[in-house]
Amino acid sequence: MNQKPFIALDFPTWEMTSTFLDQFSESLNVKVGMELYFQNGPVILEKLLNKNHRIFLDLKLHDIPNTVYGAMKGLAGFDLEMINVHAAGGSVMMEKALEGLHAGTPANHKRANLIAVTQLTSTTEEHMRKEQLIPIPLHESVLHYAALAREAGLDGVVCSPLESHLIKEHCGNDFIRVTPGIRLAEDHLGDQKRVTTPEMAKDLGSSYIVVGRSITSADNPVAAYERIVHDWEGKE
Ligand code: C5P
Repeated sequence: MNQKPFIALDFPTWEMTSTFLDQFSESLNVKVGMELYFQNGPVILEKLLNKNHRIFLDLKLHDIPNTVYGAMKGLAGFDLEMINVHAAGGSVMMEKALEGLHAGTPANHKRANLIAVTQLTSTTEEHMRKEQLIPIPLHESVLHYAALAREAGLDGVVCSPLESHLIKEHCGNDFIRVTPGIRLAEDHLGDQKRVTTPEMAKDLGSSYIVVGRSITSADNPVAAYERIVHDWEGKE
């Protein structure tokens, strides 16, 4: 898989998605999340694959192990690059997710990378303390989840760019760090709390970045994408 940024296709319809994608002349790394998938179904994956885009399916599965096994087994039938679960679902759930992915991946196909969401990039330490009743520093919780995911055999985690370095140190460089929460210096934060620029994300040890609104809400999405790629790849 190339290391180009994944564009978060957070659109409600296929029409809006394809209008957006038609502005680009190349096949892209794209992220399909809940908004697009739940309103349009698996057919959206076929449509993107037909246009040669590479997909990170970001459904953040979190349920009892048996249910996650079944869901993963079904989703493994699509030619996905990456798929994820919430680490908060626990070690057994993560192990079953991986088993399901193995079981459902067609022969001669590469299994999608399975990564775990640690703490969402919209979560703050105060939120963790008051709402999750977790009285430890946020980075400790993220590291704990990353270690659990690694022990369960997963390929990496979704985390804030601010945590990639620590995870790389503890879990090794091969353990993938996918980081949303990316903004160009002049952009609005929106609901994200723990953000960096693409350049900083590279410096801090991200393996892949995910960028949504900085591209999809830009006046010129192609120019914004190119600037982000330049920022990101300029650091290689
Ligand atoms: O628009 P923005 O760049 O903030 O979009 C970030 C994308 O990454 C969204 O689709 C969001 O669901 C996703 N994401 C995230 N934090 C995580 C996991 C996924 O923001 N921990």
